[in-house]
Amino acid sequence: MNALIKNLWTVTLVVCLLPLLLLGLDVVFDNLGSNPIQAVHIRLGDWSLRFLCIALTITPIQTITRWRGMPEYRQLFGLFAFFYASLHFLVYLLVDHNFNWSLIIMDIIESPYIWFGVFAYIIVFLLGITSSKFAMKKLGKNWKKLHRWVYLAAIASVIHYFWQLKGNLAEPLLYAIIISLLLSFRIFTWFTARQLGKMMIPKGRGDE
Ligand code: HEM
Repeated sequence: MNALIKNLWTVTLVVCLLPLLLLGLDVVFDNLGSNPIQAVHIRLGDWSLRFLCIALTITPIQTITRWRGMPEYRQLFGLFAFFYASLHFLVYLLVDHNFNWSLIIMDIIESPYIWFGVFAYIIVFLLGITSSKFAMKKLGKNWKKLHRWVYLAAIASVIHYFWQLKGNLAEPLLYAIIISLLLSFRIFTWFTARQLGKMMIPKGRGDE
């Protein structure tokens, strides 16, 4: 059973790299249309948001299935959200703006949708660098508090997506619905756990 779970994790890791491999092949075979740089940028942003959503589904799945091995997958998907977001950011800095910092700062100031992208990235970055067991131990109770910010990162990413879009709103709308459902599930389980906790406290103790 242990070997199966270990292999499943490795297979998942390889699958998470497939979007990058396919993107690489599209670059090599010139399959990215008239604006390949924009296409690369968009694909990386899309995959970052997808992995963020996949990472968010793990806790509800764990709550429903009670499978204890889930956090390793949540960490893996979260790190891939960070990985693809970093590449997305890097393409923006290097390929779009050639590390021209005055141009980058001007663009960031003038484009409110970029603020949301940067805000989401800062959160994803903080979560990525504190995702290890070591950081978890060091941060103690604060770790959970910090990692709840993942919902803010997801919301900011969807706003970032909506705001820069010129045409079809269907896709960001779908992400918005998925994130709202996942957030509602978390609020619902938190609320019921709290109510149950209150019911377990013997009468009079709550007044102490
Ligand atoms: C967690 C962080 C981020 C996520 C999840 C994310 C996600 C996305 C998504 C989903 C899109 C739309 C792709 C599409 O049209 O299908 C997008 C577009 C874009 N993002 Fe981000 N983004 C993030 C951070 C950033 C940062 C930090 C920057 C730059 C400072 C940035 C710059 C852009 C730009 C310029 C576009 C428009 C691309 C174009 O149409 O040419 N993003 N992003």
